[in-house]
Amino acid sequence: MSHSPFKIIFTFFILSFHLIEAGIRPKFLVSIFNFLPNNNVPLTVHCQSRDDDLGFHNITVGQSYNFTFYENFFWRTVFFCHFWWHPKEITFDVFNKGQKCIKKGPVYSHDCIWIAEFDGFTLNGVKEHDW
Ligand SMILES: *[C@@H]1O[C@H](CO)[C@@H](O)[C@H](O)[C@H]1NC(C)=O
Ligand SMILES: *[C@@H]1O[C@H](CO)[C@@H](O)[C@H](O)[C@H]1NC(C)=O
Repeated sequence: MSHSPFKIIFTFFILSFHLIEAGIRPKFLVSIFNFLPNNNVPLTVHCQSRDDDLGFHNITVGQSYNFTFYENFFWRTVFFCHFWWHPKEITFDVFNKGQKCIKKGPVYSHDCIWIAEFDGFTLNGVKEHDW
């Protein structure tokens, strides 16, 4: 393997492409953890954006439901979820243009960690909603 100028230039372009793409289309992880008391009432969640319907999911106690996506160029993505924990239910935005998500790691990725508890929901450790 020689280090020809062509290879160096090629590598440079590939790296640049990835960096630019990471900057333009940052990646997000939305995690929803079930830290509710284990009383056999399932936590059911149904998340949607304008373009995507992620379907219905039950999250067992101690587990999480995750989804990842790339923010669009205009930073317009909004995901909202409907939560059921009988007899309680609530709907709110779990992702609103990246607000309150935490940038993580050397690549341009972000975590939005929701925890469902008895008295409500936290996002990255900060209380956001009551049930
Ligand atoms: C979630 O759990 C409820 C109650 O056990 C069940 O009726 C429902 O089909 C489950 N939904 C999914 C998506 O697994
Ligand atoms: C979901 O993301 C969390 C980090 O928030 C991680 O600890 C967990 O393993 C992930 N779960 C799955 C099923 O990928």
